[in-house]
Amino acid sequence: MDLPSYYITTPIYYVNDVPHIGHAYTTLACDAMARFKRLDGYQVLFLTGTDEHGQKVETAANDRGLAPQEFTDQVSQNFRDLLPILNVSNDDFIRTTEKRHRVSAQTIWQKLMNNGHIYLDKYSGWYSLRDETYFTETELIDGNAPTGAPVEWVEEESYFFDLSAWQEPLLDFYKKNPDFIAPRSRRNEVISFVNSGLRDLSISRTSFNWGITVPNNPEHIMYVWLDALTNYITAADFPEENAPKYKQFWPADLHMVGKDILRFHAIYWPAFLMAAELELPKRVFAHGWWTNEGAKISKSIGNVIDPIELIKTFGLDQVRYFLLREVPFGNDGDFSQQSMIARINSDLSNDLGNLCQRVLSFVYKNGDKKIPQPANKLPDDQKLLRDAQGLITALRKHFDSQEFHLALEKIWTVIGAANRYIDTQAPWTLKKSDPVRMNTVLYTLIEVLRYLAITTQPVIPTSANIMLDQLNVPANERSFKYLTSAYKIKPGKKIEKPLPIFPRFVIDAP
Ligand code: MSP
Repeated sequence: MDLPSYYITTPIYYVNDVPHIGHAYTTLACDAMARFKRLDGYQVLFLTGTDEHGQKVETAANDRGLAPQEFTDQVSQNFRDLLPILNVSNDDFIRTTEKRHRVSAQTIWQKLMNNGHIYLDKYSGWYSLRDETYFTETELIDGNAPTGAPVEWVEEESYFFDLSAWQEPLLDFYKKNPDFIAPRSRRNEVISFVNSGLRDLSISRTSFNWGITVPNNPEHIMYVWLDALTNYITAADFPEENAPKYKQFWPADLHMVGKDILRFHAIYWPAFLMAAELELPKRVFAHGWWTNEGAKISKSIGNVIDPIELIKTFGLDQVRYFLLREVPFGNDGDFSQQSMIARINSDLSNDLGNLCQRVLSFVYKNGDKKIPQPANKLPDDQKLLRDAQGLITALRKHFDSQEFHLALEKIWTVIGAANRYIDTQAPWTLKKSDPVRMNTVLYTLIEVLRYLAITTQPVIPTSANIMLDQLNVPANERSFKYLTSAYKIKPGKKIEKPLPIFPRFVIDAP
């Protein structure tokens, strides 16, 4: 039987910048989602990559005295190198300078042209290089783009896409697909933007060279957003619409983006696809932005957070956990040392780390290094096990809505219950008074740990797998289908000497 499929994408990152926390955030959220789906039996295509064309990149390369290709080769590699450091499980990495992408973008263009949605005219208006976006006079604020970026007056021959014709079809599509844009507040913003009217979109430039040329008119370079958005379908083997990969993975299940680029993904991209008579992605989720100790993150302020430094200081799974737990996914959030350390010491070290350590070292020391043999279960044991077994249903719901924070909260509810259970049952007392009962209690805890370790894999994969190794759970029994009592740990199995997984974070004395 064919596995169900799941196709998830990160935005492709501009190569005029070094990777920072914002990039790491989107990528890690996608990684957790991709891992969750794989563990849940899906065949996953997880795509990330770099957005390498446009005037901005051409200028950045010139500033460094490099040819654009040479420059993008270098910077794209920085983004690629970050992935193993974040333990990201992407299946593909796309660069818009690749041939497969050029062919795909030109084919989309040709389809738009053939279907009568592109016309040649003259563009005159304001263009923001930093946003790679056109603005009308009325949209400007104090002579700048709404983002604060400077704008330049552009007057040139340009191809246009008839975006204005797609207002009604888009509104109709949003209505029929209420989950297409998430979270809900963002959906409302997009709908009111589209309701207020759409203008045709300038989709080519003639004033620079670094980009994909327009079919049959090489004087024109494709607008970088049309080029960039197409990457998602390129990686599904477009234009080979009969290719197995295309059939399996297009349309994409989820485009994960930051709130600043939602408009491109929720308006332009579906309009391009409708006009090209291609299928539309199923969902676009816009997450919020991080500030650093209360301040907006910006290169000019010099407070950009380097994900590599962050991991060196706090640890990889600690950072992954923090980013997905601290802020309701979709909202803006603030990064602070204090909140990071609080999460590490309370959730990871005190709650999860201690639970593992207490249970495993007790079993290791008092149980002959073997999984104990349980006797009859009492209602307290059954209740805890039921909570652990019920987790996956709630997690599926939360992951499918990208409520990563709620998924983690649910898991931590069970961790809390397990910690209370160990205190109430007090196996250290039972050791003398009732060793048979002690074994049942320890066995129950071990089984609960197995559920916890399996379900935390998407977010803290390295630590979860250390836990599973310690529990001696075979590598091929770690996916979600093993979350039933049919695969419970066999009594008598050896356990490894437990290692602490989440040490407390202690700030060095100055
Ligand atoms: N190249 C375009 C995307 C094209 S997709 C077809 C782009 N690139 S980007 O490198 O500027 O931004 C990539 C992502 O990083 C965006 O989703 C953006 O929201 C995210 N972030 C940048 N700074 C951020 C924070 N401070 N916090 C969270 N995410 C942020 O846009």
